[in-house]
Amino acid sequence: MSYDLVVIGTGPGGYVCAIRAAQLGLKTAVVEKRKTHGGTCLNVGCIPSKALLHASHMFEDARDHFADLGIGVSAPALDLKRMQAFKQEGVDGNTKGVEFLLKKNKIDAFFGTARIAAAGQVEVKGEDGSNQVLETKNIVIATGSDVTRLPGIEIDEKVVVSSTGALELESVPKRLVVIGAGVIGLELGSVWRRLGAEVTVVEYLDRILPGMDAEVAKQFQRILSKQGFQFKLGAKVTKVEKSGKGATLTFEPAAGGNPETIEADVVLVAIGRVPYTQGLGLDHVGVQLDNRGRILTDAHFATNVTGIYAIGDVIAGPMLAHKAEDEGVAVAEILAGKAGHVNYDVIPSVVYTFPEVASVGKTEEELKSAGVAYNAGKFPFTANGRAKVNRTTDGFVKILADATTDKVLGVHIIGPEAGNLIHEAAIAMEFGASSEDMARTCHAHPTLAEAVKEAALAVEKRAIHM
Ligand code: FAD
Ligand code: NAI
Repeated sequence: MSYDLVVIGTGPGGYVCAIRAAQLGLKTAVVEKRKTHGGTCLNVGCIPSKALLHASHMFEDARDHFADLGIGVSAPALDLKRMQAFKQEGVDGNTKGVEFLLKKNKIDAFFGTARIAAAGQVEVKGEDGSNQVLETKNIVIATGSDVTRLPGIEIDEKVVVSSTGALELESVPKRLVVIGAGVIGLELGSVWRRLGAEVTVVEYLDRILPGMDAEVAKQFQRILSKQGFQFKLGAKVTKVEKSGKGATLTFEPAAGGNPETIEADVVLVAIGRVPYTQGLGLDHVGVQLDNRGRILTDAHFATNVTGIYAIGDVIAGPMLAHKAEDEGVAVAEILAGKAGHVNYDVIPSVVYTFPEVASVGKTEEELKSAGVAYNAGKFPFTANGRAKVNRTTDGFVKILADATTDKVLGVHIIGPEAGNLIHEAAIAMEFGASSEDMARTCHAHPTLAEAVKEAALAVEKRAIHM
Protein backbone atom coordinates (compact mmCIF):
# COMPACT_ATOMS: atom_id res chain seq x y z
CA MET A 1 0.00 0.00 0.00
CA SER A 2 1.34 3.40 -0.92
CA TYR A 3 0.42 6.80 0.54
CA ASP A 4 1.32 10.47 0.39
CA LEU A 5 1.18 10.58 4.18
CA VAL A 6 1.11 8.11 7.06
CA VAL A 7 0.35 9.61 10.47
CA ILE A 8 1.42 7.63 13.55
CA GLY A 9 -1.00 8.17 16.45
CA THR A 10 -4.60 9.39 16.30
CA GLY A 11 -4.63 11.80 19.24
CA PRO A 12 -5.71 15.42 18.65
CA GLY A 13 -2.48 16.06 16.74
CA GLY A 14 -2.58 12.99 14.52
CA TYR A 15 -6.25 12.71 13.60
CA VAL A 16 -6.59 16.44 12.87
CA CYS A 17 -3.44 16.32 10.73
CA ALA A 18 -4.83 13.37 8.77
CA ILE A 19 -8.18 15.07 8.15
CA ARG A 20 -6.58 18.32 6.97
CA ALA A 21 -4.19 16.37 4.69
CA ALA A 22 -7.10 14.43 3.18
CA GLN A 23 -9.05 17.68 2.65
CA LEU A 24 -6.06 18.96 0.70
CA GLY A 25 -6.01 15.89 -1.55
CA LEU A 26 -3.22 13.82 0.04
CA LYS A 27 -3.76 10.05 0.12
CA THR A 28 -3.56 9.52 3.85
CA ALA A 29 -3.42 6.66 6.37
CA VAL A 30 -3.26 6.62 10.16
CA VAL A 31 -1.86 3.99 12.53
CA GLU A 32 -3.08 3.73 16.13
CA LYS A 33 -2.04 1.24 18.77
CA ARG A 34 -5.00 1.78 21.11
CA LYS A 35 -8.30 0.12 20.29
CA THR A 36 -9.97 3.50 19.78
CA HIS A 37 -8.97 6.78 18.17
CA GLY A 38 -8.56 10.10 19.99
CA GLY A 39 -5.29 9.51 21.86
CA THR A 40 -4.66 10.47 25.45
CA CYS A 41 -7.00 13.43 25.21
CA LEU A 42 -10.20 11.63 24.28
CA ASN A 43 -9.54 8.30 26.01
CA VAL A 44 -7.79 9.10 29.30
CA GLY A 45 -7.23 12.87 29.37
CA CYS A 46 -9.19 15.99 28.48
CA ILE A 47 -12.56 14.36 27.81
CA PRO A 48 -12.99 11.92 30.73
CA SER A 49 -11.53 14.46 33.16
CA LYS A 50 -13.97 17.13 32.02
CA ALA A 51 -16.89 14.68 32.28
CA LEU A 52 -16.00 13.98 35.93
CA LEU A 53 -15.34 17.68 36.61
CA HIS A 54 -18.79 18.51 35.24
CA ALA A 55 -20.60 15.73 37.11
CA SER A 56 -18.83 16.41 40.42
CA HIS A 57 -19.51 20.15 40.09
CA MET A 58 -23.22 19.43 39.61
CA PHE A 59 -23.13 17.13 42.65
CA GLU A 60 -21.51 19.81 44.82
CA ASP A 61 -23.89 22.48 43.55
CA ALA A 62 -26.91 20.32 44.36
CA ARG A 63 -25.52 19.57 47.82
CA ASP A 64 -24.24 23.00 48.81
CA HIS A 65 -25.79 25.70 46.63
CA PHE A 66 -29.24 24.78 45.34
CA ALA A 67 -30.93 25.76 48.61
CA ASP A 68 -29.65 29.37 48.22
CA LEU A 69 -31.39 29.55 44.88
CA GLY A 70 -34.65 28.40 46.41
CA ILE A 71 -34.38 24.93 44.95
CA GLY A 72 -35.22 22.39 47.62
CA VAL A 73 -33.69 18.99 47.02
CA SER A 74 -32.88 16.31 49.52
CA ALA A 75 -29.16 15.65 50.01
CA PRO A 76 -27.95 14.17 46.71
CA ALA A 77 -26.77 10.57 46.81
CA LEU A 78 -23.64 9.67 44.91
CA ASP A 79 -23.93 6.82 42.44
CA LEU A 80 -20.28 6.64 41.40
CA LYS A 81 -20.85 3.68 39.10
CA ARG A 82 -23.40 5.71 37.14
CA MET A 83 -21.12 8.77 37.16
CA GLN A 84 -18.30 6.66 35.71
CA ALA A 85 -20.71 5.31 33.09
CA PHE A 86 -21.71 8.92 32.24
CA LYS A 87 -18.01 9.65 31.73
CA GLN A 88 -17.45 6.55 29.58
CA GLU A 89 -20.48 7.31 27.38
CA GLY A 90 -18.98 10.74 26.72
CA VAL A 91 -15.61 9.21 25.87
CA ASP A 92 -17.19 6.63 23.55
CA GLY A 93 -19.26 9.29 21.78
CA ASN A 94 -16.12 11.31 21.13
CA THR A 95 -13.86 8.46 20.00
CA LYS A 96 -16.60 7.16 17.67
CA GLY A 97 -16.87 10.69 16.31
CA VAL A 98 -13.20 10.58 15.30
CA GLU A 99 -13.69 7.18 13.67
CA PHE A 100 -16.59 8.64 11.65
CA LEU A 101 -14.55 11.68 10.59
CA LEU A 102 -11.63 9.52 9.42
CA LYS A 103 -14.00 7.39 7.31
CA LYS A 104 -15.80 10.44 5.96
CA ASN A 105 -12.47 11.82 4.77
CA LYS A 106 -11.51 8.47 3.17
CA ILE A 107 -8.50 8.00 5.45
CA ASP A 108 -7.30 4.39 5.84
CA ALA A 109 -7.04 3.53 9.54
CA PHE A 110 -4.75 0.73 10.71
CA PHE A 111 -4.82 -0.54 14.30
CA GLY A 112 -1.45 -1.75 15.54
CA THR A 113 1.95 -0.52 16.72
CA ALA A 114 3.88 1.46 14.15
CA ARG A 115 7.63 1.33 13.70
CA ILE A 116 9.51 3.37 11.16
CA ALA A 117 11.54 0.82 9.19
CA ALA A 118 13.12 3.56 7.04
CA ALA A 119 12.14 6.98 5.73
CA GLY A 120 9.11 6.18 3.55
CA GLN A 121 8.27 2.88 5.26
CA VAL A 122 6.02 2.29 8.25
CA GLU A 123 5.70 -1.21 9.65
CA VAL A 124 2.43 -1.98 11.45
CA LYS A 125 2.34 -4.84 13.93
CA GLY A 126 -1.20 -5.91 14.77
CA GLU A 127 -2.24 -7.38 18.13
CA ASP A 128 -2.90 -10.65 16.29
CA GLY A 129 0.77 -10.80 15.28
CA SER A 130 0.10 -9.59 11.71
CA ASN A 131 2.73 -7.41 10.09
CA GLN A 132 2.33 -5.06 7.14
CA VAL A 133 4.43 -2.35 5.59
CA LEU A 134 2.97 0.95 4.38
CA GLU A 135 4.97 2.82 1.74
CA THR A 136 4.63 6.57 2.02
CA LYS A 137 6.15 9.82 0.79
CA ASN A 138 5.89 11.41 4.24
CA ILE A 139 5.50 10.33 7.86
CA VAL A 140 4.11 12.47 10.69
CA ILE A 141 4.90 11.20 14.19
CA ALA A 142 2.12 12.17 16.61
CA THR A 143 2.69 9.61 19.36
CA GLY A 144 2.05 12.00 22.27
CA SER A 145 3.25 11.59 25.83
CA ASP A 146 3.23 9.33 28.85
CA VAL A 147 3.13 9.81 32.64
CA THR A 148 6.36 10.90 34.36
CA ARG A 149 7.25 8.37 37.04
CA LEU A 150 8.89 9.03 40.40
CA PRO A 151 12.00 6.87 40.82
CA GLY A 152 11.34 4.01 43.22
CA ILE A 153 7.58 4.60 43.36
CA GLU A 154 5.56 2.01 41.50
CA ILE A 155 2.24 3.04 39.95
CA ASP A 156 -0.24 0.14 40.35
CA GLU A 157 -3.27 2.25 39.21
CA LYS A 158 -5.19 1.13 42.34
CA VAL A 159 -3.48 2.65 45.41
CA VAL A 160 -0.72 4.60 43.70
CA VAL A 161 -2.32 5.97 40.55
CA SER A 162 -1.50 8.15 37.57
CA SER A 163 -4.22 10.35 36.04
CA THR A 164 -5.46 7.24 34.21
CA GLY A 165 -6.15 5.37 37.47
CA ALA A 166 -7.51 8.53 39.13
CA LEU A 167 -10.19 8.70 36.42
CA GLU A 168 -11.25 5.10 37.13
CA LEU A 169 -11.54 4.90 40.94
CA GLU A 170 -14.40 2.65 42.02
CA SER A 171 -14.96 4.37 45.35
CA VAL A 172 -14.25 7.80 46.78
CA PRO A 173 -10.97 7.65 48.75
CA LYS A 174 -11.29 9.05 52.27
CA ARG A 175 -7.80 10.58 51.98
CA LEU A 176 -6.33 11.41 48.59
CA VAL A 177 -2.74 12.63 48.48
CA VAL A 178 -1.68 14.26 45.24
CA ILE A 179 1.98 14.61 44.34
CA GLY A 180 2.33 17.72 42.15
CA ALA A 181 0.27 20.92 42.23
CA GLY A 182 0.01 21.15 38.45
CA VAL A 183 -3.03 21.00 36.20
CA ILE A 184 -3.79 17.30 36.64
CA GLY A 185 -3.38 17.37 40.43
CA LEU A 186 -5.70 20.34 40.88
CA GLU A 187 -8.35 19.21 38.38
CA LEU A 188 -8.56 15.60 39.55
CA GLY A 189 -8.04 16.68 43.17
CA SER A 190 -11.13 18.88 42.70
CA VAL A 191 -13.19 15.98 41.36
CA TRP A 192 -12.53 13.74 44.35
CA ARG A 193 -12.74 16.56 46.92
CA ARG A 194 -16.20 17.48 45.63
CA LEU A 195 -17.25 13.85 45.96
CA GLY A 196 -16.06 13.72 49.58
CA ALA A 197 -12.29 13.03 49.72
CA GLU A 198 -9.90 14.94 51.99
CA VAL A 199 -7.28 16.13 49.52
CA THR A 200 -3.67 17.02 50.37
CA VAL A 201 -1.35 18.24 47.63
CA VAL A 202 2.40 17.82 48.09
CA GLU A 203 4.36 20.10 45.74
CA TYR A 204 8.11 20.41 45.30
CA LEU A 205 8.08 24.15 44.52
CA ASP A 206 6.89 26.88 46.89
CA ARG A 207 3.87 27.69 44.72
CA ILE A 208 1.13 25.93 42.76
CA LEU A 209 0.77 25.90 38.96
CA PRO A 210 4.30 26.88 37.96
CA GLY A 211 4.28 28.82 34.71
CA MET A 212 0.95 30.52 35.42
CA ASP A 213 0.91 34.21 36.44
CA ALA A 214 2.03 34.24 40.11
CA GLU A 215 -0.75 36.58 41.32
CA VAL A 216 -3.36 34.33 39.75
CA ALA A 217 -1.76 31.20 41.24
CA LYS A 218 -1.69 32.81 44.70
CA GLN A 219 -5.37 33.77 44.56
CA PHE A 220 -6.20 30.31 43.21
CA GLN A 221 -4.41 28.62 46.09
CA ARG A 222 -6.40 30.75 48.55
CA ILE A 223 -9.68 29.76 46.88
CA LEU A 224 -8.74 26.06 46.79
CA SER A 225 -7.73 26.18 50.46
CA LYS A 226 -11.16 27.66 51.31
CA GLN A 227 -12.69 24.73 49.43
CA GLY A 228 -10.79 22.32 51.70
CA PHE A 229 -7.58 21.53 49.79
CA GLN A 230 -4.51 21.16 52.04
CA PHE A 231 -1.16 22.16 50.57
CA LYS A 232 2.34 21.07 51.54
CA LEU A 233 4.52 23.31 49.39
CA GLY A 234 8.30 23.21 49.06
CA ALA A 235 8.12 19.51 49.91
CA LYS A 236 10.03 16.65 48.38
CA VAL A 237 8.46 13.18 48.40
CA THR A 238 11.09 10.61 49.27
CA LYS A 239 9.05 7.45 49.73
CA VAL A 240 5.61 5.96 49.15
CA GLU A 241 5.10 2.68 50.99
CA LYS A 242 1.96 0.63 50.54
CA SER A 243 0.46 -0.21 53.92
CA GLY A 244 -2.69 -2.30 54.30
CA LYS A 245 -5.22 -0.90 51.86
CA GLY A 246 -3.49 2.45 51.48
CA ALA A 247 -0.06 3.99 51.51
CA THR A 248 2.26 6.03 53.70
CA LEU A 249 3.97 8.90 52.01
CA THR A 250 7.19 10.40 53.35
CA PHE A 251 8.24 13.91 52.40
CA GLU A 252 10.76 16.46 53.62
CA PRO A 253 11.37 20.16 52.98
CA ALA A 254 12.81 20.58 49.47
CA ALA A 255 15.63 22.64 51.01
CA GLY A 256 16.42 19.80 53.44
CA GLY A 257 15.11 19.13 56.94
CA ASN A 258 13.07 16.69 59.00
CA PRO A 259 10.92 14.17 57.17
CA GLU A 260 7.15 13.95 57.81
CA THR A 261 4.70 11.22 56.90
CA ILE A 262 1.13 11.31 55.72
CA GLU A 263 -1.38 8.47 55.33
CA ALA A 264 -3.42 8.07 52.16
CA ASP A 265 -6.00 5.70 50.74
CA VAL A 266 -4.97 6.73 47.25
CA VAL A 267 -1.86 8.56 46.04
CA LEU A 268 -2.05 10.37 42.70
CA VAL A 269 1.31 10.93 41.01
CA ALA A 270 0.90 14.01 38.78
CA ILE A 271 4.37 15.45 38.28
CA GLY A 272 4.25 16.00 34.52
CA ARG A 273 4.38 14.01 31.31
CA VAL A 274 7.21 12.84 29.06
CA PRO A 275 7.28 12.47 25.27
CA TYR A 276 6.45 8.97 24.05
CA THR A 277 8.75 7.55 21.38
CA GLN A 278 9.16 3.98 22.59
CA GLY A 279 9.33 1.30 19.89
CA LEU A 280 9.19 3.77 16.98
CA GLY A 281 12.66 2.81 15.79
CA LEU A 282 13.94 6.40 15.87
CA ASP A 283 17.47 5.30 16.75
CA HIS A 284 17.55 3.02 13.80
CA VAL A 285 16.45 5.71 11.28
CA GLY A 286 18.56 8.38 12.98
CA VAL A 287 15.83 10.83 14.12
CA GLN A 288 17.36 13.19 16.68
CA LEU A 289 15.87 13.87 20.13
CA ASP A 290 16.63 16.82 22.44
CA ASN A 291 17.98 16.47 25.99
CA ARG A 292 14.43 15.96 27.34
CA GLY A 293 13.62 13.12 24.95
CA ARG A 294 11.46 15.27 22.65
CA ILE A 295 11.75 14.84 18.89
CA LEU A 296 13.77 17.74 17.49
CA THR A 297 11.96 19.60 14.72
CA ASP A 298 12.54 22.79 12.74
CA ALA A 299 9.97 25.58 12.27
CA HIS A 300 8.22 23.39 9.68
CA PHE A 301 7.90 20.37 12.00
CA ALA A 302 10.56 18.52 9.99
CA THR A 303 12.98 16.23 11.81
CA ASN A 304 16.58 15.84 10.66
CA VAL A 305 15.50 12.90 8.45
CA THR A 306 13.92 13.92 5.13
CA GLY A 307 10.24 12.93 4.93
CA ILE A 308 9.77 12.48 8.69
CA TYR A 309 7.87 15.14 10.66
CA ALA A 310 6.61 15.34 14.26
CA ILE A 311 3.89 17.29 16.12
CA GLY A 312 2.05 17.50 19.45
CA ASP A 313 3.21 16.34 22.89
CA VAL A 314 6.15 14.44 21.40
CA ILE A 315 7.87 17.73 20.38
CA ALA A 316 8.70 20.89 22.36
CA GLY A 317 6.04 23.32 23.59
CA PRO A 318 3.03 23.15 25.89
CA MET A 319 1.47 19.69 26.16
CA LEU A 320 -2.02 20.79 25.16
CA ALA A 321 -4.55 19.23 22.81
CA HIS A 322 -5.26 22.45 20.89
CA LYS A 323 -1.52 23.06 20.37
CA ALA A 324 -1.23 19.53 18.93
CA GLU A 325 -4.27 20.12 16.69
CA ASP A 326 -2.95 23.40 15.34
CA GLU A 327 0.41 21.79 14.61
CA GLY A 328 -1.44 18.96 12.84
CA VAL A 329 -3.20 21.42 10.55
CA ALA A 330 0.01 23.39 9.95
CA VAL A 331 2.14 20.38 8.98
CA ALA A 332 -0.60 19.02 6.67
CA GLU A 333 -0.76 22.40 4.93
CA ILE A 334 3.03 22.52 4.61
CA LEU A 335 3.05 19.02 3.08
CA ALA A 336 0.38 20.14 0.60
CA GLY A 337 2.56 23.07 -0.46
CA LYS A 338 0.76 25.73 1.58
CA ALA A 339 2.08 28.02 4.31
CA GLY A 340 0.84 26.42 7.54
CA HIS A 341 2.03 27.92 10.80
CA VAL A 342 1.26 28.12 14.53
CA ASN A 343 1.43 31.33 16.55
CA TYR A 344 3.04 30.11 19.79
CA ASP A 345 2.55 33.54 21.40
CA VAL A 346 -1.21 33.04 21.45
CA ILE A 347 -1.94 29.57 22.83
CA PRO A 348 -4.53 29.73 25.59
CA SER A 349 -4.34 27.41 28.58
CA VAL A 350 -7.17 26.61 30.94
CA VAL A 351 -7.50 24.81 34.28
CA TYR A 352 -11.05 23.46 34.42
CA THR A 353 -11.63 23.72 38.16
CA PHE A 354 -14.19 25.97 39.83
CA PRO A 355 -13.45 28.77 39.43
CA GLU A 356 -11.58 28.20 36.18
CA VAL A 357 -8.13 29.63 35.55
CA ALA A 358 -7.25 30.76 32.04
CA SER A 359 -4.32 32.47 30.50
CA VAL A 360 -2.94 33.58 27.14
CA GLY A 361 0.34 35.32 26.33
CA LYS A 362 2.95 36.56 28.74
CA THR A 363 2.77 36.55 32.55
CA GLU A 364 3.93 39.52 34.65
CA GLU A 365 7.00 37.48 35.66
CA GLU A 366 7.93 36.82 32.02
CA LEU A 367 7.55 40.50 31.07
CA LYS A 368 9.64 41.59 34.07
CA SER A 369 12.44 39.15 33.33
CA ALA A 370 12.44 40.20 29.64
CA GLY A 371 12.64 43.87 30.74
CA VAL A 372 9.43 44.81 28.90
CA ALA A 373 7.64 47.87 30.34
CA TYR A 374 3.92 47.18 30.67
CA ASN A 375 0.71 48.52 32.17
CA ALA A 376 -1.64 46.19 34.04
CA GLY A 377 -5.42 46.56 34.23
CA LYS A 378 -7.29 44.44 36.76
CA PHE A 379 -10.99 44.02 37.41
CA PRO A 380 -12.52 41.78 40.11
CA PHE A 381 -15.62 39.65 39.54
CA THR A 382 -17.02 41.09 42.81
CA ALA A 383 -17.74 44.23 40.75
CA ASN A 384 -19.35 42.42 37.80
CA GLY A 385 -23.17 42.43 37.87
CA ARG A 386 -23.66 38.96 36.43
CA ALA A 387 -21.10 37.34 38.74
CA LYS A 388 -22.69 39.13 41.70
CA VAL A 389 -26.20 37.97 40.95
CA ASN A 390 -24.95 34.42 40.33
CA ARG A 391 -22.83 34.58 43.52
CA THR A 392 -19.70 33.48 41.69
CA THR A 393 -17.55 36.46 42.55
CA ASP A 394 -14.20 34.79 43.33
CA GLY A 395 -11.46 35.96 40.96
CA PHE A 396 -10.46 38.71 38.56
CA VAL A 397 -9.37 39.56 35.02
CA LYS A 398 -5.90 40.98 34.45
CA ILE A 399 -4.73 42.49 31.17
CA LEU A 400 -1.08 43.30 30.51
CA ALA A 401 -0.37 45.79 27.73
CA ASP A 402 2.86 47.23 26.36
CA ALA A 403 3.57 50.57 28.12
CA THR A 404 4.53 52.28 24.85
CA THR A 405 2.27 50.79 22.18
CA ASP A 406 -0.63 49.54 24.38
CA LYS A 407 -0.52 46.22 22.47
CA VAL A 408 -2.02 43.43 24.59
CA LEU A 409 0.77 41.05 25.67
CA GLY A 410 -0.99 38.78 28.15
CA VAL A 411 -4.39 38.15 29.70
CA HIS A 412 -4.98 36.13 32.88
CA ILE A 413 -8.37 35.27 34.28
CA ILE A 414 -9.43 33.43 37.38
CA GLY A 415 -13.17 33.21 37.73
CA PRO A 416 -16.39 31.70 36.44
CA GLU A 417 -16.24 30.73 32.73
CA ALA A 418 -12.61 31.88 32.50
CA GLY A 419 -11.99 29.14 29.92
CA ASN A 420 -14.54 30.68 27.58
CA LEU A 421 -13.75 34.32 28.37
CA ILE A 422 -10.07 33.89 27.48
CA HIS A 423 -10.90 33.49 23.80
CA GLU A 424 -11.89 37.10 23.22
CA ALA A 425 -8.39 37.96 24.48
CA ALA A 426 -6.83 35.32 22.20
CA ILE A 427 -8.63 36.74 19.15
CA ALA A 428 -7.67 40.28 20.14
CA MET A 429 -4.02 39.25 20.50
CA GLU A 430 -4.02 37.31 17.22
CA PHE A 431 -5.12 40.55 15.51
CA GLY A 432 -2.52 42.60 17.40
CA ALA A 433 -5.15 44.58 19.36
CA SER A 434 -4.39 47.25 21.94
CA SER A 435 -6.09 47.30 25.34
CA GLU A 436 -7.98 50.35 24.07
CA ASP A 437 -9.37 48.25 21.17
CA MET A 438 -10.70 45.77 23.73
CA ALA A 439 -12.04 48.54 25.96
CA ARG A 440 -13.88 50.26 23.08
CA THR A 441 -15.54 47.04 21.89
CA CYS A 442 -19.18 47.02 23.01
CA HIS A 443 -19.81 44.10 25.41
CA ALA A 444 -23.34 42.81 26.08
CA HIS A 445 -24.84 43.42 29.50
CA PRO A 446 -25.12 41.59 31.83
CA THR A 447 -22.27 39.22 31.00
CA LEU A 448 -19.13 37.97 32.69
CA ALA A 449 -17.29 39.24 29.60
CA GLU A 450 -17.91 42.79 30.81
CA ALA A 451 -15.18 42.09 33.38
CA VAL A 452 -12.75 41.67 30.46
CA LYS A 453 -13.81 45.03 29.02
CA GLU A 454 -13.47 46.67 32.45
CA ALA A 455 -9.98 45.19 32.90
CA ALA A 456 -9.05 46.68 29.52
CA LEU A 457 -10.43 50.05 30.69
CA ALA A 458 -8.44 49.64 33.91
CA VAL A 459 -5.19 49.55 31.92
CA GLU A 460 -5.77 53.30 31.43
CA LYS A 461 -7.21 53.59 34.97
CA ARG A 462 -10.74 54.34 33.70
CA ALA A 463 -12.80 51.31 34.73
CA ILE A 464 -16.39 52.39 35.30
CA HIS A 465 -17.60 49.97 37.96
CA MET A 466 -14.62 50.15 40.32
P1 FAD B 1 -1.84 11.83 22.25
O1 FAD B 1 -3.19 12.35 22.49
O2 FAD B 1 -1.08 11.30 23.41
O3 FAD B 1 -2.00 10.68 21.15
C1 FAD B 1 -0.93 9.88 20.76
C2 FAD B 1 -1.47 8.58 20.23
O4 FAD B 1 -0.41 7.88 19.59
C3 FAD B 1 -2.00 7.63 21.32
O5 FAD B 1 -3.31 7.24 21.03
C4 FAD B 1 -1.05 6.44 21.27
O6 FAD B 1 -1.70 5.20 21.51
C5 FAD B 1 -0.55 6.50 19.84
N1 FAD B 1 0.76 5.86 19.64
C6 FAD B 1 1.89 6.03 20.37
N2 FAD B 1 2.89 5.30 19.86
C7 FAD B 1 2.39 4.63 18.80
C8 FAD B 1 2.92 3.71 17.87
N3 FAD B 1 4.20 3.33 17.90
N4 FAD B 1 2.10 3.22 16.91
C9 FAD B 1 0.81 3.59 16.83
N5 FAD B 1 0.24 4.48 17.69
C10 FAD B 1 1.03 4.99 18.65
N6 FAD B 1 -4.97 19.11 27.14
C11 FAD B 1 -5.80 20.14 26.91
O7 FAD B 1 -5.55 20.93 25.99
N7 FAD B 1 -6.94 20.33 27.64
C12 FAD B 1 -7.26 19.50 28.66
O8 FAD B 1 -8.30 19.69 29.31
C13 FAD B 1 -6.40 18.41 28.94
N8 FAD B 1 -6.70 17.56 29.95
C14 FAD B 1 -5.87 16.51 30.18
C15 FAD B 1 -6.16 15.66 31.24
C16 FAD B 1 -5.35 14.59 31.53
C17 FAD B 1 -5.70 13.68 32.67
C18 FAD B 1 -4.19 14.35 30.72
C19 FAD B 1 -3.31 13.17 30.98
C20 FAD B 1 -3.88 15.20 29.68
C21 FAD B 1 -4.71 16.28 29.40
N9 FAD B 1 -4.42 17.19 28.38
C22 FAD B 1 -5.25 18.25 28.15
C23 FAD B 1 -3.24 17.03 27.51
C24 FAD B 1 -3.65 16.39 26.17
O9 FAD B 1 -4.25 15.15 26.42
C25 FAD B 1 -2.44 16.22 25.26
O10 FAD B 1 -1.78 17.46 25.13
C26 FAD B 1 -2.86 15.72 23.89
O11 FAD B 1 -3.54 14.50 23.98
C27 FAD B 1 -1.65 15.57 22.98
O12 FAD B 1 -2.07 15.13 21.73
P2 FAD B 1 -1.12 14.26 20.78
O13 FAD B 1 -1.90 14.02 19.55
O14 FAD B 1 0.21 14.90 20.68
O15 FAD B 1 -0.88 12.89 21.56
P1 NAI C 1 2.37 19.83 35.39
O1 NAI C 1 3.64 20.05 34.71
O2 NAI C 1 1.20 20.70 35.10
O3 NAI C 1 2.57 19.90 36.97
C1 NAI C 1 3.45 19.05 37.65
C2 NAI C 1 3.71 19.60 39.04
O4 NAI C 1 4.43 18.65 39.77
C3 NAI C 1 4.53 20.88 39.03
O5 NAI C 1 3.93 21.80 39.88
C4 NAI C 1 5.90 20.43 39.52
O6 NAI C 1 6.60 21.43 40.19
C5 NAI C 1 5.49 19.30 40.46
N1 NAI C 1 6.53 18.30 40.69
C6 NAI C 1 7.43 17.79 39.82
N2 NAI C 1 8.19 16.86 40.41
C7 NAI C 1 7.75 16.76 41.69
C8 NAI C 1 8.12 15.96 42.81
N3 NAI C 1 9.09 15.05 42.72
N4 NAI C 1 7.46 16.13 43.97
C9 NAI C 1 6.45 17.04 44.08
N5 NAI C 1 6.07 17.82 43.05
C10 NAI C 1 6.69 17.69 41.87
O7 NAI C 1 2.03 18.29 35.12
P2 NAI C 1 0.69 17.47 35.27
O8 NAI C 1 -0.26 18.11 36.20
O9 NAI C 1 1.13 16.07 35.52
O10 NAI C 1 0.09 17.55 33.81
C11 NAI C 1 0.83 17.06 32.67
C12 NAI C 1 0.49 17.81 31.44
O11 NAI C 1 -0.82 17.53 31.02
C13 NAI C 1 0.61 19.29 31.65
O12 NAI C 1 1.78 19.73 30.99
C14 NAI C 1 -0.59 19.88 30.99
O13 NAI C 1 -0.20 20.65 29.89
C15 NAI C 1 -1.42 18.70 30.51
N6 NAI C 1 -2.77 18.84 31.06
C16 NAI C 1 -3.53 19.90 30.68
C17 NAI C 1 -4.77 20.11 31.21
C18 NAI C 1 -5.54 21.30 30.79
O14 NAI C 1 -5.17 21.93 29.82
N7 NAI C 1 -6.61 21.65 31.49
C19 NAI C 1 -5.34 19.21 32.19
C20 NAI C 1 -4.45 18.14 32.57
C21 NAI C 1 -3.23 17.97 31.99
